[in-house]
Amino acid sequence: MANNRLDQVVSTIVEKVRDGVREEKVSYEEYRAAVGYMMKVADAGELALFIDLFLNATMCRVINENAHSKASLQDMEGPYFLDESPMLEDGKMKLMDGYENDEPLIVRGTVRDVDGAAMPGVLVDMWNATPDGKYGGIHEGVPVDHYRGKVRTDENGHFRFESTVPVPYRIKDNGPVGAMLKAMGRHSWRPAHVHIKVRHEGYRDLITQLYFAEGEYVHDDCCEGTVPQEFVFDKVIEDGKRVLETDLFIEKVSEKQAA
Ligand SMILES: [Fe+2]
Repeated sequence: MANNRLDQVVSTIVEKVRDGVREEKVSYEEYRAAVGYMMKVADAGELALFIDLFLNATMCRVINENAHSKASLQDMEGPYFLDESPMLEDGKMKLMDGYENDEPLIVRGTVRDVDGAAMPGVLVDMWNATPDGKYGGIHEGVPVDHYRGKVRTDENGHFRFESTVPVPYRIKDNGPVGAMLKAMGRHSWRPAHVHIKVRHEGYRDLITQLYFAEGEYVHDDCCEGTVPQEFVFDKVIEDGKRVLETDLFIEKVSEKQAA
């Protein structure tokens, strides 16, 4: 049986690409070069990276445009989420010693529904890069249970994590995707950020990122992330620790989304 949705989506996207080819009067040589380039991207195992670079943030914008007006804004999940991250009793992540630029970080807040009611028992995941831009269990030398973890909100909907302030890092840029960015005169840096994922039965997952207002690339992200203004935090220091404090609003899965 024909899949009408597939036909509609693919036909629309292909027609837009054709429009671009016509508008730019793409030469046959350029077309062949593009096909050859995509073969290289696939051979290098960078197809997901290539697609995410251009479309992941767009997918988040589609979610945000169709979300409840009070729901917190979605941002990219990125490739470094691991569901096997440890459950943290006290929100304190395992960290590594020996970094000269270690800066303690507290991330805390309240999970609420779109009417503002605090939600206890909600699963909140957080993961962030080391002070030299690596992820636990992904990059060499950082154990899988470091710089990531999950907590459940308490009876007042509160959550709290302790980690260290991450730094900007470059996406993988030593293959065809990096070569193209360079050829286009673009950089491969992401601003420093903290990843958050909120999950609760019957509610749409909230996947977002928290940013540091004074940091580099906040408004020049190579992945053109949504960088929600509500999640760009000014510098607040408490007892020598950088504090990011925020409410996170999650919305019920609509019948349409659940279908
Ligand atoms: Fe990240």
